[in-house]
This record gives sequence, structure tokens and C-alpha cells, in this order.
Amino acid sequence: MVLIAAGCSSESGGSNDLSVGIVLPTKDEQRWVQDEERFKEAIGETDYTTEILFSQGSSAKEKENVETLISKGIDVLIITPQDGDSAAAAADAAKEEGITVISYDRLITNTDSVDYYVTFDSVAVGAAQAQYLVDNSEGSGIPLYLYAGAASDNNAYLFFEGAWNVLQPKIADGTFTIANSSEAEALQDKAELTREEMSAIVSQLTTSWDPNEAKNKAETHLTAAGDDMKGDIAILGPNDDTARAIADVFSQDSSVTSYVISGQDATKASIQYIIDGKQSMTVFKDVRTLVKDAMGMAITILDGDTPDTTGSYDNGEIDVPAMQSDVISVDKDNVQSEIIDSGYYEASEFTGLE
Ligand code: BGC
Repeated sequence: MVLIAAGCSSESGGSNDLSVGIVLPTKDEQRWVQDEERFKEAIGETDYTTEILFSQGSSAKEKENVETLISKGIDVLIITPQDGDSAAAAADAAKEEGITVISYDRLITNTDSVDYYVTFDSVAVGAAQAQYLVDNSEGSGIPLYLYAGAASDNNAYLFFEGAWNVLQPKIADGTFTIANSSEAEALQDKAELTREEMSAIVSQLTTSWDPNEAKNKAETHLTAAGDDMKGDIAILGPNDDTARAIADVFSQDSSVTSYVISGQDATKASIQYIIDGKQSMTVFKDVRTLVKDAMGMAITILDGDTPDTTGSYDNGEIDVPAMQSDVISVDKDNVQSEIIDSGYYEASEFTGLE
């Protein structure tokens, strides 16, 4: 049974003792609503009690949520930090109570209070986005517009690192010309970037994962761009929500003849954009797998056993044992097989599917 409590929380389970607390960043993005739905499905299959709370973009709210869950007696905390560094205090508070902390999708940084990390291969996400731009752009000197995620999200650096690994050689050999970043241009001869170097670029190109900020940046970039930076172009769209906002701006410019743009999350709105030819691709991160891994890990811990891990991630303080899963590049050609036939979404949720 799943009870929807007031505000942004949902509870399930039979006893009064709460076993697993789940804290997600925001209900305003379909990405995290997907996770909530998949958690609810998984929760229905366990005897342990769980509660899901949303931080709504606020680290203060996030800390409050963690405190609420601690006071309800949780043994395991599954948390996607709003801001990786700020969430360290919440993780520390949980740790002090002997709670096992699982970082979910985003890594909590600069604390030793994180026990496990359940994640997609985020470097592979950025690489898949970039590879799509490479494979679907023709000629040389192609204007390349770069955008990044939130500077407070460790994933933004992993995505960018993966993208840079693929794009940098193609910038160096003249296939692409960076159109919108003096910081990236200054570093374009460097195959491997330090965290500080990446930070300079990410700070300049950040969307803060906010479609409005993405839209404003894209407008500013297009206003500043000369005609030589228009025509057939490539755009590194960091995720689906920001990619649609950026694509909407570029599609309005009559000097932009065509654009290839990446995304990630396989959100419903972007799947429709892909079908309609308005967004080129998305990286499908099957949330069913991530939820299964996180809940599986939580149950293993509750049962008194040690969960399996596949590697580790440096969070600035410790190497956090991690369980990682793969991602899939999806465009018009495989949207039917990967997204519909796999049962992720129903065909009836979209129009124009062949
Ligand atoms: C997640 C993405 C998501 C983004 C914005 C990242 O940490 O990995 O899936 O689109 O945050 O919420």
C-alpha cells in the first residue's frame, strides 16, 4: 500500500518504524518524478517501511528532511543531494546516528559520511552525447555550442569530462569550432582537464539545470554570434529539460540552418521532441535499474549483509564504494525499441510514433 502524505511525501509499509528514508531533489523535473514512481513500485514489493521526501531545490529543506527521517528511526538513507558539498552536513548527521548513507545518482562530496554510491556511468553519459554530435555532423569548422549542468552537482563535471574526451580531439583536428566559451577555447589543446580547469568551463556554461537559465544563455550566445558561427551547428545539451529550452531558442534563429543537440534522461517531453525532430538524441538512464540497485542495497544492509559494489568514486574525501549501471544512446531510430518496446513508456503517451 502506498499512502500519499501531505506535501511532497509518500509512505508505505506496515509497521510504525521507518526503515528506509529517501530524499530526492525536486518534483519540478520529470527526471526525479520518474525516480519517485519507480521507488514506489519497488517499495510495494518489500516488507520494509519507507518514506520519500523532496527537497524542492533547497539544501536547507533537504537537511530538514533528513532530520525528519532520522527522528522517525531510519536505518538507511538514500539521498540525491541538491548540492553535493552542502549535503555533507545532512550525511554527517545521519552517520552520527549510525544510519547507512547511500548517495543516489549524485555524489555527496567532501565528507567521509557516505557509505555507498548508486549511479549511472556518468562519464559515459557525456561521451554518448558528444559521440552523437560527432557522428551526426558533417564537414569541418562546425560551430559547437557547449552547455553544462549545475556547478554544485558533481555529475556536471563527470558529464563534461566524458564529453570533452570525445570532443577535444575533434576540436583539435578542426572538425568543430567552439562558438560560445572563451574558457573552453583557452583549454582546447588540452586532452585532459583538471577539476579546476573543468570548473572554469562549467561555471561559464552552467545552466544550473534550469531551463530558464539555459534559454537565457542560449539567447545571449546567439546574439553575440556572427553568421560564421551559425549555419549547420552542434550543441552539447546537458540534459533533456535544458536541451529543449536551448533547442527552442536555436530553432527560432533563421541563420541556423540545422542543429544537432544532445540531452539525457529520456523524459517524456524530450521523447516527443525526438519523435518530432526537435531534439536529436537523449541518453536513456533506465531509472528502474537505479532504483532496483538502491533498494536492493538498502535491503541487503537491513538484512545485515554487505552489498555488492562494482567500483568506487572519489568524493574529495574518501573513495566511496559504488554500484554503477550502463546508459543507452537513443534517437529517432531506436526510440521505439529502447523506450516503448522495453515497457519504459506507453506508445499512447506520444504522437507521431511510426
Ligand atoms: C542527473 C540528471 C538530471 C540532472 C538535473 C543530474 O545529477 O544525473 O539525470 O537531469 O541532475 O536534475
